[in-house]
Amino acid sequence: MCGIVGIIGTEPVAVRLLDALKRLEYRGYDSAGIATLHDGKLERRRAKGKLVALEKRLSDEPLGGTIGIGHTRWATHGKPTEKNAHPHISGGVCVVHNGIIENFKILRAELASDGYDFVTETDTEVIAHLIAREIDAGNDPQAALKASLERLEGAFALAVLFQGHDNLMIGARRGSPFAIGYGSDDQPGMFIGSDAFALAPFTNRIAYLEEGDWVVLSKDSATIYDEGGAQVNRPITTSMANALLVDKGNHRHFMAKEIHEQPEVISRTLSHYIDLGNEKVDFSSLDIDFQSLDRLSITACGTAYYAGLVAKYWIEKWGGLPVDVDVASEFRYREPLLSDNGAALFVSQSGETADTLACLAYCNEKNQKTLSIVNVQESSIARGSDAVLPTLAGPEIGVASTKAFTCQLTVLAALTIHIGRQRGVLSKEQEVELVHSLVEVPRLISEMLVEEAKIDAISQQLVHAKDVLYLGRGIHYPLALEGALKLKEISYIHAEAYAAGELKHGPIALIDENMPVVVVVPKDGLFDKTISNCQEVAARGGQIIFISDCDAKTTGCDFVSQISLPRGNEFIAPLLCAIPVQLLAYYTAVHMGTDVDQPRNLAKSVTVE
Ligand code: M6R
Repeated sequence: MCGIVGIIGTEPVAVRLLDALKRLEYRGYDSAGIATLHDGKLERRRAKGKLVALEKRLSDEPLGGTIGIGHTRWATHGKPTEKNAHPHISGGVCVVHNGIIENFKILRAELASDGYDFVTETDTEVIAHLIAREIDAGNDPQAALKASLERLEGAFALAVLFQGHDNLMIGARRGSPFAIGYGSDDQPGMFIGSDAFALAPFTNRIAYLEEGDWVVLSKDSATIYDEGGAQVNRPITTSMANALLVDKGNHRHFMAKEIHEQPEVISRTLSHYIDLGNEKVDFSSLDIDFQSLDRLSITACGTAYYAGLVAKYWIEKWGGLPVDVDVASEFRYREPLLSDNGAALFVSQSGETADTLACLAYCNEKNQKTLSIVNVQESSIARGSDAVLPTLAGPEIGVASTKAFTCQLTVLAALTIHIGRQRGVLSKEQEVELVHSLVEVPRLISEMLVEEAKIDAISQQLVHAKDVLYLGRGIHYPLALEGALKLKEISYIHAEAYAAGELKHGPIALIDENMPVVVVVPKDGLFDKTISNCQEVAARGGQIIFISDCDAKTTGCDFVSQISLPRGNEFIAPLLCAIPVQLLAYYTAVHMGTDVDQPRNLAKSVTVE
């Protein structure tokens, strides 16, 4: 997703803007640009591709100035070319933008008929022209911005420079998050960015713009206005987005680092929800009576949706509460019927996913009790929910979600026990047993990570595949879905997941000796049924990679290779299965030489529809 940064200070900004943009790279982008005001003039440098290309442009043609804005663009309207890269300029107005202007076609036609020339295919260019038209009509920058905002439809964050005003920057937020950083004596100035992470090298004093807010920045002040134009205060918090946390350590990729962090972050998350001394889960601060609920609806996207699917199996079996799980982009438009006595749970790493956020707004409107599981506690989803259950995964930089997923599962597993106890489905003894099994997870994952070289070797079997099938049954079906998603997003190999029982209803036609089939099958009540499906695959020459805590040889089935899982309580199996499917995708992508941390076309946080 596009990233924005702005600095207004006393030191040269171009290099610092570039540094901040590097910290937004994780969001995904395909071009970038920076503009500054220098000696009263606007100047910009833009480049297609990665930031190294922009860095090269800046080194060939440096930019002066102590005020500037920068942008990483994830193309929505118009190809990822230099011409379409931000910032966009009209007259003396210079704009960077994240989001989508939904009425841009109407505005474009109107502005073109007023004589404003369009040189890009972007929706953003209308913002620059709109503001410039207001300036041309004699308005000052503030009035011009305010009048322009009233014409824009859609979700966006934007930052604007005005030629002739070298102590002024204006930012605005509708839908997309925006953080304001307050400088200090050591690092004077004011900062604005898509997240606190981008601003971490400059300041940890952060305020967040609320929906509809806009802000007028000078070198030493930020004046915030709400949508109606009234001046407002937004609290300044101390951000935890420490600059050191973006280091890859000894790992080649952030994804590898984040896979390896899982024992630690799961432990941290567990200690937040488990009272080990009393061998019980602790949700004492959660004000929801699960006993009286008749339904829980879970909504999320991508990997977070698969965490929700696992939770459906957990909560229905061990919590005794009916659960619906929806992909957010479907839920928001299907006018779902919600129970009068239901609660709605949203799962999101970033807490900013536009579709999930829209579902939260819908459920709030329908008077559902809303609860969110998020990794970014200052996020819009966290702030818009009645209750928040944090995952303590720390910043996740790799676009492919790994540690956030297992931390989501950790919270959902603990929540399942809480629900089971409240609804009288689980006895105290069962709670103790499940709690004990959960606290084993970090150790078991550490043991699996020691064996990762085996998965590296097995991944060679996928490198030349054109298609890969993933199978799983019951609670392991979502893990098959997650494995297929991981593989396709970072290796670009087509992968599909099926509930193993569905195989014979169609996908079995695909099986031949060129088709690797990854089967996620820890020992549980459905094990034998899945083994029968494996037989069907083997009989047709399919190349099976068997992920299980049982020895493949004992099944009588012809497997190509086995990835062994440690044996734990069946309750924690989804958490353990997550590791091999992540590693298999990771090593396949490494062997193929793809951009593991920033795969093509993908954004870390999807803040547009
Ligand atoms: O930030 P969120 O958890 O709301 O993001 C949801 C999905 O966009 C995300 O999980 C996506 O599917 C990941 N790239 C998967 O690895």
